[in-house]
Amino acid sequence: MDLPLESDVWHPVIKSEKLKLGKKKMLRIGLKSLMVVRESSRIYATDALCRHMAWPLAYGGKINDECITCPLHQTRYDLNSGEIKEWSPFPLFPLYGRIVGSLRRPSPLVVHETRELDGWVEVRLSTA
Ligand code: FES
Repeated sequence: MDLPLESDVWHPVIKSEKLKLGKKKMLRIGLKSLMVVRESSRIYATDALCRHMAWPLAYGGKINDECITCPLHQTRYDLNSGEIKEWSPFPLFPLYGRIVGSLRRPSPLVVHETRELDGWVEVRLSTA
């Protein structure tokens, strides 16, 4: 018998009614931490930590135009693809942000599929 691949499994992570519009949640599936947020008609799920210096994006991350901006050095990611829009630009003067940004190679945020079913928000983990 074949076990289902992790990427085939939908995990219920939070009751739909508990995920309020615009409120980011840090949730877990096993050992994996996620940032989950409901924005207008969509629910996004990403890895919990900023790829730059591991700030938990649920705490202070700002969402605009389907992107999330990390509060620490303002790295900005597309919530649909995880693509980096800007890497550690803050602060501009002195050039501290760029220096700190160079400490870690830029890498995209991992995003996961979401759906709502039977009153639950479910996440299917990406294999990326
Ligand atoms: S930790 Fe997120 S931008 Fe530096």
